[in-house]
Amino acid sequence: MESSILIILFIIPGVWSGNWGVTFTDQCALKGTSVLIKCEYDYPTGLIVTGVAWYQRLRISGGFRLVHLSNIPSAPDHFRYVGDKWSDCSLRINDVQSFDAREYYFQFQTTFNKIWMSRRPALLTVTELTAFVEPSTVTEGDRVNLICVSGCPSHVDVVWFKDGQPVSNPIFQARREDAGRYYCAVQGQEKSRSASVALNVQYAPRKVSLSVSPSSEVLKGSAVTFTCSSDANPIVTHNGYSLHKDGHLISSGAIHSISDIQPSHSGLFWCQVWNNISRGGVDLINSTAVHLDVQYPPVNISVSMDPPHVTEGSSVNLTCSSSANPAAQTYTWFRRTASPSSGSSSMFQVGSGQVMSLPYMHVNHTGLYLCQARNTVGETNSTEVLLTISAKNHGSQSVLFLAGVGVFLFVALVLMVFFFWRKKTNYTEKNSPTSHEDDVTYSTVTIKPRIPDDPQHMNNNRAMRDSASRTGEYEDTVIYATVAKSR
Ligand SMILES: *[C@@H]1O[C@H](CO)[C@@H](O)[C@H](O)[C@H]1NC(C)=O
Ligand SMILES: *[C@@H]1O[C@H](CO)[C@@H](O)[C@H](O)[C@H]1NC(C)=O
Ligand SMILES: *[C@@H]1O[C@H](CO)[C@@H](O)[C@H](O)[C@H]1NC(C)=O
Ligand SMILES: *[C@@H]1O[C@H](CO)[C@@H](O)[C@H](O)[C@H]1NC(C)=O
Ligand SMILES: *[C@@H]1O[C@H](CO)[C@@H](O)[C@H](O)[C@H]1NC(C)=O
Repeated sequence: MESSILIILFIIPGVWSGNWGVTFTDQCALKGTSVLIKCEYDYPTGLIVTGVAWYQRLRISGGFRLVHLSNIPSAPDHFRYVGDKWSDCSLRINDVQSFDAREYYFQFQTTFNKIWMSRRPALLTVTELTAFVEPSTVTEGDRVNLICVSGCPSHVDVVWFKDGQPVSNPIFQARREDAGRYYCAVQGQEKSRSASVALNVQYAPRKVSLSVSPSSEVLKGSAVTFTCSSDANPIVTHNGYSLHKDGHLISSGAIHSISDIQPSHSGLFWCQVWNNISRGGVDLINSTAVHLDVQYPPVNISVSMDPPHVTEGSSVNLTCSSSANPAAQTYTWFRRTASPSSGSSSMFQVGSGQVMSLPYMHVNHTGLYLCQARNTVGETNSTEVLLTISAKNHGSQSVLFLAGVGVFLFVALVLMVFFFWRKKTNYTEKNSPTSHEDDVTYSTVTIKPRIPDDPQHMNNNRAMRDSASRTGEYEDTVIYATVAKSR
């Protein structure tokens, strides 16, 4: 049993040469990782190690000194001896920082008070990962390559993060949302990471919008501001904005104001933006169009009469027309009426609607009328118009006149019959001493078939009648006669 242990003791320390010595290799570590400084030591057979120690070489007040690791201020468990008291003198340094990049010495002590210090130091280099985005500024759709460089010669597996979120593939086609800050980290030791680098993804303007303040429906005379906005990278400059109305350029710049808006400003507005990145080959991007509607109360109100001359008993339509935006919705008609009590006059509502139909006009309806037009933004009165109703017209008067003439003709006919009868009687009583022939004057008058329609004509007829009485002329077409007897 004891001999077998002895055999094992002789076999295991195969590296031992029996000479004093410490062997290790220089190390390169990424900041934040933990590193193992591998170390072996050797000493003559028969000696027993009684103590081990690691030192760091520090520059203190102008000179170099070896300082025991336990005397270096550091986080607990920062330096950890992972070797043993036989042959392994490895040292682990956790969460390596840049100030750990120094020279390290190993020293051990054996029985017989022998002390051995490594002749040369183990050198620790501390580096960091460095991230690159290639290219760092791209246009949407371009290919991007994420590159992570470690300062240490050994291969390191890295992972990528963008704004804290893992990135699946370090080579991709840039989308707008890929813009951000990237860093790489050692796989499994994500505390060890690079500084972050930005990826700038440029894109043509989007979300181009035109807003009208206070509203796209405004009252004439008010102030209006057009504001064009967009999401673009690089941002759109002043000259990248232009405002258009009904196909014409109005102004450049993102903001355009009109202080005294007029109906003529109504129309279709939109803006165009440009930022040197084209979208699908198109450089100028349009906003949606906004229709500006300038509203005003009714103006230019006029009243028209149909028919233009109104006679008693007929009907008339009064039509009110106006220019308004929005179009007038209600029309109210008023008539000025004298109030006998006060001697003044007042307006009374007599109707509504754009057309007011007045049937069976009477002379009393003569008066001043006005129309009031109203839309959502106001009301306006027309001027007062005079509506005159004339009495029964000449047409009905002539009927009366004709009736009178008819009666007169009938009387004349009766008289003519009487006249012929008297003449016949005179022949039979030729020598009668009672004849009064000399005492009687007979006359007849002819009237043209046309019916006279004014007193002037009637006077002319009387003149003709008189001349006929002088000549004693007779005509077949006698239709009119007067008889006068003088004694
Ligand atoms: C657009 O303009 C920006 C800023 O001036 C510049 O950085 C970028 O290279 C330009 N892009 C193109 C495609 O011309
Ligand atoms: C923008 O509007 C103008 C004028 O209407 C038109 O000619 C042009 O094609 C439009 N551009 C886009 C990208 O729609
Ligand atoms: C009102 O009438 C005037 C004169 O005829 C005309 O110049 C003006 O344009 C009209 N206003 C509207 C809003 O139609
Ligand atoms: C007045 O208007 C009514 C209805 O529009 C129509 O029937 C009538 O013929 C019009 N009257 C006159 C005199 O124009
Ligand atoms: C229009 O006329 C009506 C009736 O006379 C009157 O009450 C109203 O005040 C007038 N409106 C205007 C704006 O002159």
